[in-house]
Amino acid sequence: MACDSPIPDDSRTDEVLSARNLTREFLSGDGRLEILKGIDFEIHHGQIVAIHGASGAGKSTLLHILGTLDRPTSGQVFIGETNAFDLPEDRLAGFRNRTVGFVFQAHHLLPEFSALENVMMPLLVGRYDWDTARERAKGLLVEVGLGKRLGHKPLALSGGEQQRVAVARALVARPHVVLADEPSGNLDRGNGEALLNLMWEMSHRHGQAFVVVTHDESVGRRADRAYVLEDGLLNAVAA
Ligand SMILES: Nc1ncnc2c1ncn2[C@@H]1O[C@H](COP(=O)(O)OP(=O)(O)OP(=O)(O)O)[C@@H](O)[C@H]1O
Ligand SMILES: [Mg+2]
Repeated sequence: MACDSPIPDDSRTDEVLSARNLTREFLSGDGRLEILKGIDFEIHHGQIVAIHGASGAGKSTLLHILGTLDRPTSGQVFIGETNAFDLPEDRLAGFRNRTVGFVFQAHHLLPEFSALENVMMPLLVGRYDWDTARERAKGLLVEVGLGKRLGHKPLALSGGEQQRVAVARALVARPHVVLADEPSGNLDRGNGEALLNLMWEMSHRHGQAFVVVTHDESVGRRADRAYVLEDGLLNAVAA
């Protein structure tokens, strides 16, 4: 089945993701931990928003909830116009696959597949036909500078190259938003900067929205908006 555009254009609003009054508590051996205490958040088409914060502040917890990988204790996440946690569980995974891209600190590429196959994967899971998936994945790998590495398996790529494949994979389904958790955290300074520049380039070229969690405050200075997550709340960083 050829379905080049599974999300009709009229479902896209300028606001690609928003969250209302998110809380997240964990019950553990140390009692009840309130990690998120009422977060409101929104990001629009083409924006890059940076989130900083100390280790353990809850940045990954927040990103996982925004990406619907984890559920909040209370509150709502809208992706496009859809209230994500209202979807039945069996539809949520497919919805996430179409609407959210992820880039993690570790690339999470599938080791037995080539760079090209890894980038094709979200489209194949989303039931695109093989040729469409191949062409689109190839185009993105060329854009991220890996046109001559299509057949390389992840272990035969450098760390910076692996992360560029991960960015291509995150973008391939043309998601509403890409959520990146310390994407340059495992890279040296030069490769880290190159990866961030690539994200900016992709944002400008494709209107792609990115939420970037990072310790690197220079990212916040370049972003459209920057926040610090502290004591369970997002505080805006003055431009
Ligand atoms: N499943 C869980 N059960 C209990 N506590 C958890 C769970 N997941 C996260 N936490 C706690 O929530 C807090 C926030 O964790 P999180 O991973 O979101 O922090 P972070 O801001 O991403 O930190 P880092 O910068 O080190 O990645 C931590 O104190 C962590 O121990
Ligand atoms: Mg984290």
